[in-house]
Amino acid sequence: MAGVGASTMMLSQSDPVQCAKSPAYGTVDVIIGAQWGDEGKGKLVDILSFDYKLCARVAGGSNAGHTIVVGGKKYKFHLVPSGILNEDARCVVGNGVVVHLRGLIKELADLKAAGVEYDGRLLLSDRAHIVFDFHQTVDGLNEARLAGNKLGTTKKGIGPAYGSKVMRNGLRIGDLKDFDDFEVRFRRLCTYFETSYADMGLKIDVEKELSYYRSIRETVMGMTTDSITFANDALTSGENILVEGANATMIDLDFGTYPYVTSSNPTIGAVCTGLGVSPHKIGEVIGIVKAYCTRVGEGPFPSEQLNATGHDLQMKGFEFGTTTGRERRCGWIDIPQLKYANLINGFTSLNLTKVDVLDTFKEIKIGKNYISNGKVLNGMPASLSTYSQVEMEWETMPGWQQDISKMKTFDELPANCKKYILRVEELLGVPIRWIGVGAGREDMIDRGTSFTNRKK
Ligand code: GDP
Ligand code: IMO
Ligand code: MG
Repeated sequence: MAGVGASTMMLSQSDPVQCAKSPAYGTVDVIIGAQWGDEGKGKLVDILSFDYKLCARVAGGSNAGHTIVVGGKKYKFHLVPSGILNEDARCVVGNGVVVHLRGLIKELADLKAAGVEYDGRLLLSDRAHIVFDFHQTVDGLNEARLAGNKLGTTKKGIGPAYGSKVMRNGLRIGDLKDFDDFEVRFRRLCTYFETSYADMGLKIDVEKELSYYRSIRETVMGMTTDSITFANDALTSGENILVEGANATMIDLDFGTYPYVTSSNPTIGAVCTGLGVSPHKIGEVIGIVKAYCTRVGEGPFPSEQLNATGHDLQMKGFEFGTTTGRERRCGWIDIPQLKYANLINGFTSLNLTKVDVLDTFKEIKIGKNYISNGKVLNGMPASLSTYSQVEMEWETMPGWQQDISKMKTFDELPANCKKYILRVEELLGVPIRWIGVGAGREDMIDRGTSFTNRKK
């Protein structure tokens, strides 16, 4: 195993520290959202980042919202990798990310104001596409066009920016270098959007925008690099990389509940396409699983609880979006959905998060199987009409009705809590290494390095 281990050992209960021999090449360990997002990815990235010198984002944009709590202080990340809180780590925004530069500059200013020094530690890929303000406006206009069928996007311009990338008329961060060429292509892009949305009155203040990009050009170029060479050079010199997954498996453009998805691939493949590293370099693949389940935006959600239980989960879990403040829809954990996520990503271990949120429940349900036409459904239906109609076969487990937030080891947990965790582990066949018992950096139980399926 690569870096997954050392610094979390202080939280571990009994495993011996595995002082792995320095490998010839570093590996890329990956953290991936296993559900519909907001599982608590940022928190584990923050904890593990102390074992790495390099953290990276590989997909998505500022639709992501990762909240980290350190010593009672909250940090919110949208584009900057959460590893930036570790002052020895350098953070890379990979080529697969779409970057709203205005938002990034604000996020960095907020970090500086909060006392986080990042100078020289944040690197932007020259190949990452730029999200312009008009992409964000158009995101809203597209939603308005869909009227009653809106997707419930974050309106951060993600779909339109990836659209420009695919249409091959987008602009990349590295394009700022030759500003004359940038200007020509920017004007062309603005015309394209103004024409396409003329019926909705889209007007772009092209001169104002150009003067803004001219003004930030030097700052941005100072952070820009050939991230592919950078990442691979780091691996060649034996450094490990930690990838911070953004968004999640069930909102993946290919594997999620299309069209109620985001416009990128937040699953394992994005590590190769969004960072430019070989699949041979991938080490641990850690799935982040909330002990229940939430979803923001529209789309089917079989284990959703549109009742007092859903409301309780929302209130106790403080389930409101980090990026948009929207209420997150809540339900119980969904095993067939997680098995599907495991199929796609090949999780080597899991972090079950927010287990403390279930502390007061008398009974806890596990969605065990999807039933369609009276039969257990095998796999995940591509058809949304089938998926929206599946019924859930439930398994009910007794709650523990005890505060677990101060517990530091698996052994300390109440018997029913352990039973719940072990049952989820059994149903999924993936070791649950980490257990979240609170929002703080220290509120994480680590069962140790042996809790992995990774073949050495
Ligand atoms: P992400 O997008 O996957 O990084 O998750 P978010 O940050 O959007 O949402 C997770 C929320 O749960 C954040 O407010 C975290 O501070 C909080 N959180 C993470 N892990 C735990 C946990 O184990 N227990 C509790 N109570 N809160 C947690
Ligand atoms: P993190 O990284 C939860 C959802 C949106 C919407 C759909 C499409 O914090 O887990 P988009 O703006 O991407 O076009 O919206 O995807 N969505 C997320 N939901 N967490 C996220 O990221 C999300 N990123 C996108 O709510 O339903
Ligand atoms: Mg989030």
